[in-house]
Amino acid sequence: MADGDDRIVSPNYGDDDAQENTLRPRRLEDYIGQEQVKDNLSILLAAARKRGEALDHVLLYGPPGLGKTSLSLIIAAEMEANIRMTSGPAIEHAGDLASILTALDERDVLFIDEIHRLSRVVEERLYSAMEDYALDLIIGKGPSARSVRLPLKHFTVVGATTRFGALTAPLRDRFGAIYRLNYYDDAALQQIIRRSARILKVQAEEDGIQEMARRARGTPRIANRLLRRVRDYAQVRANGVITREVASAALAALEVDDRGLDPSDRAVLLTIIQKFDGGPVGIETLAASMSEEVETVEDVYEPYLLQLGFLARTPRGRIVTRLAYEHLGLPYRSGPTPFGLWDDPNAP
Ligand SMILES: Nc1ncnc2c1ncn2[C@@H]1O[C@H](COP(=O)(O)OP(=O)(O)OP(=O)(O)O)[C@@H](O)[C@H]1O
Ligand SMILES: [Mg+2]
Repeated sequence: MADGDDRIVSPNYGDDDAQENTLRPRRLEDYIGQEQVKDNLSILLAAARKRGEALDHVLLYGPPGLGKTSLSLIIAAEMEANIRMTSGPAIEHAGDLASILTALDERDVLFIDEIHRLSRVVEERLYSAMEDYALDLIIGKGPSARSVRLPLKHFTVVGATTRFGALTAPLRDRFGAIYRLNYYDDAALQQIIRRSARILKVQAEEDGIQEMARRARGTPRIANRLLRRVRDYAQVRANGVITREVASAALAALEVDDRGLDPSDRAVLLTIIQKFDGGPVGIETLAASMSEEVETVEDVYEPYLLQLGFLARTPRGRIVTRLAYEHLGLPYRSGPTPFGLWDDPNAP
């Protein structure tokens, strides 16, 4: 994806996450947090198993690193079915889709990551496959061409996307269950880190675990990455045990502050404060003044700052909030009112 992916706090998958598989939860009971999604999904799974049918098509959406891929593997495991993993951009032609679909068995799961990036033609083919379990193929060319309907086994599509809004309505409508994954709370992140520490055989004290959880940006992938980096630090600089002091020192060395912000996040806030009086500033102007792509600012930096309430979106652009000034240790100075009240002739 865009820039900023080499950051330790990037929610996107990086080289460093190659061990991710060892840390993946395998069954629904190992999947921590997202209680509502788990509740609904377990009913869906139980009902399908009871009827001996394929599971309804499931769409998972939410920010990167929250556990969509893990959940799709769990769905297949719970259905005792095979899973075929692919992604929107990987299915280039309608023919690719046909060969994938015809190879699926009854109740198999087809996981399509980044499903919003399917090409138009492929997407349209997928509609009838999902709805009628059939594929219409054109055989031959010219006047002798004819269309044959190829029946498919009853399979399940599990689609994942970080951009729900980018899905077309007809595609969305073909999913019987749509689940949104949310950022994890502190307690869930602590539990995830505790579990991963056990798997990686790292000794971590409760204080140390809390310290890492607080800086993990609500994201399991980041929690696991922080754990691995802090473990390295503990082994080289301490006696291998992750205490609060060790976690703090390791994260300070990585320039991750106590809310999980790294230098790039702070640069976004400081740019708005120093160059634009705290905002409002339009996203294009902001991106240009940081020499970044608009998309990078929107997809990589903004979501977590918005989530923390350090940044707010207003009709006239982004503003830095009082909370952010406090976090940065700067005196709060409110810029022009964000909601255009001062422009309103009827305002008091
Ligand atoms: N609920 C959870 N409980 C325990 N660990 C989790 C959970 N969710 C995610 N993880 C951990 O976080 C890692 C990243 O999760 P996963 O790859 O499923 O995210 P994703 O949503 O598919 O991300 P992306 O959008 O980048 O594809 C997993 O390897 C796993 O170790
Ligand atoms: Mg994934």
